[in-house]
Amino acid sequence: QTDTLAQIRAIAMSHAQAEGPLLPLLHAVQDRFGHIPAEALPEIAQVLNISDAELRGVISFYHDFRDAPPGRRILRLCRAEACQAMGAPALIERILAHLGLERPGTTDDGALTVEFAYCLGLCACAPAALLDGLPLGRLTDAALRTALEEPQC
Ligand code: FES
Repeated sequence: QTDTLAQIRAIAMSHAQAEGPLLPLLHAVQDRFGHIPAEALPEIAQVLNISDAELRGVISFYHDFRDAPPGRRILRLCRAEACQAMGAPALIERILAHLGLERPGTTDDGALTVEFAYCLGLCACAPAALLDGLPLGRLTDAALRTALEEPQC
């Protein structure tokens, strides 16, 4: 844990002098740890001289940040307008049911974390998703199942 704190502090310090440091800093912490560890919050708040409440508010406002480690794969399903218009809500319902999830989260076996996104910049290929950062356009149930069965690279 000491090592984790030291790494978090180093990341925070490296962003402290930048303009608008908070979001890039949080992204850097999440890139490093897969989530924002709870013990990171006091460190970040102290280095940036902001309150704990302010920091928690920012983290909860942005859907990008997670407070627990993700599964081995991450599926981000778009729920914004263009994808909605192309049937994303029903598709998402079916996907969650297929995975045994009632809402976004991680499957019991830790294999997959499902998250919602609000426009992935793939509107022309709606409904869209990202699987481990790779775009999936014109998503269908079958295409997603195939993608999930493919070996992770
Ligand atoms: Fe879904 Fe833009 S609305 S990718």
